[in-house]
Amino acid sequence: MSAIEVRGVEKSFADVHVLRGVDFDVTAGSIFALLGSNGAGKTTLVRILSTLLKSDSGTATVNGFDVASRPGDVRESISLTGQFAAVDEILTGRENLLLIAKLRHLKNPGAIADDLLARFSLVEAGGRRAATYSGGMRRRLDIAMSLIGNPPIIFLDEPTTGLDPQARIDVWQTVKTLAGQGTTVLLTTQYLDEAEYLADRIAILHKGTIIQNGTLAELKQLLPPAKVEYIEKQPSLEDVFLALTGETGEPDESDEHQARKEQR
Ligand SMILES: Nc1ncnc2c1ncn2[C@@H]1O[C@H](COP(=O)(O)OP(=O)(O)OP(=O)(O)O)[C@@H](O)[C@H]1O
Ligand SMILES: [Mg+2]
Repeated sequence: MSAIEVRGVEKSFADVHVLRGVDFDVTAGSIFALLGSNGAGKTTLVRILSTLLKSDSGTATVNGFDVASRPGDVRESISLTGQFAAVDEILTGRENLLLIAKLRHLKNPGAIADDLLARFSLVEAGGRRAATYSGGMRRRLDIAMSLIGNPPIIFLDEPTTGLDPQARIDVWQTVKTLAGQGTTVLLTTQYLDEAEYLADRIAILHKGTIIQNGTLAELKQLLPPAKVEYIEKQPSLEDVFLALTGETGEPDESDEHQARKEQR
């Protein structure tokens, strides 16, 4: 079952044609990574899927609801975590969670807050102002806040940009756990290792369309293994990405030509 379906989505800003017919599906309960360079249109696509922006043409459904005709139902099905943590610095971690639970008119906001603090290893820090949190703790709190109400689908726009390696791993584990519990995750990233580690499927957004979409194993098969005699080299996802999007790499070149370039 598809949690997200995107068909022929186009979007221009003035004369810049950012999305030129984007198509993909995200299976319910899976982690889908959208890779793309700066300005590729990742955030634009996330904003369309989360009903913050209207597409010019094409259709998209989220949790079975059309984003254009059922925006309210879409919003009840999702949470969106942007690149910059949306926590209130003056409130404690627990108060931030309470605030969101109350805004969503949920019963037992205290119990919801305590449960999330435990799930995100923030129990000890829960009574401290968020201003005193490290970047990774703030990020975890931000994601915890977005989970209030248990949305079946979450959007994470560059969830680990600017985090140190340990904080990144913490966020990665959080995301893996969520998907393990059945939540569908669409994340954007510029970090190829992040997509490699987390995603069930990876799509590359380049020049307005999805130029490749597959599992890590499928993407790696797009390039032949290097043939230098004394080194055994498997292409990394980074090799695949750069060959597909780079100035010199063309995905449709012959394998032989591609192989020669890979030996550079
Ligand atoms: N509101 C807007 N008005 C005009 N141009 C916009 C607007 N939003 C985005 N753009 C342009 O659309 C293009 C795609 O932007 P977008 O933010 O979607 O890229 P991105 O893939 O998220 O990039 P990054 O990796 O830097 O976050 C850019 O050229 C950007 O300048
Ligand atoms: Mg962006």
